Amino acid sequence: MTLPENRKKFEELINNWIVIEDSAISSADELISQSRNPFLKTMIEMVKMDSQKHKRILETLRLSLNSTVVFSPDDLKIIDSFVEKHSLIEKNSVTTAEQALDMSSLPIPRMLLKQLLSDEKRHDAYIDELNELKGYMAKDT
Ligand SMILES: [Fe+2]
Ligand SMILES: [Fe+2]
Repeated sequence: MTLPENRKKFEELINNWIVIEDSAISSADELISQSRNPFLKTMIEMVKMDSQKHKRILETLRLSLNSTVVFSPDDLKIIDSFVEKHSLIEKNSVTTAEQALDMSSLPIPRMLLKQLLSDEKRHDAYIDELNELKGYMAKDT
């Protein structure tokens, strides 16, 4: 990200990605509105909500390109509490999701539980990653 030209290309890439996420959201919305089936709705909403999340992450990433990222001592305390509380919460969630999956045999509940288990494992790994980044966030940059 040193050359201004690369930076511009990178920003364009992020902007295009946001457009892709927007189209995923509106396409999902259109299909959701065509059915009253709660299972079908949730199956599509799972991707729609991820797309909304991706858009939010990309907007934050774009913001970081044009401003300095600073964490105050109060921010760091909140991150500390978040890591401390959620390292246990997410581990409990993984264990619970694994138990629920073991107890289920039908394809639809198993598919839903597999999605949840994979999310919970990701949350658990994310908390570890945040914990590793804490030192970097505390630096004056
Ligand atoms: Fe996405
Ligand atoms: Fe979680």
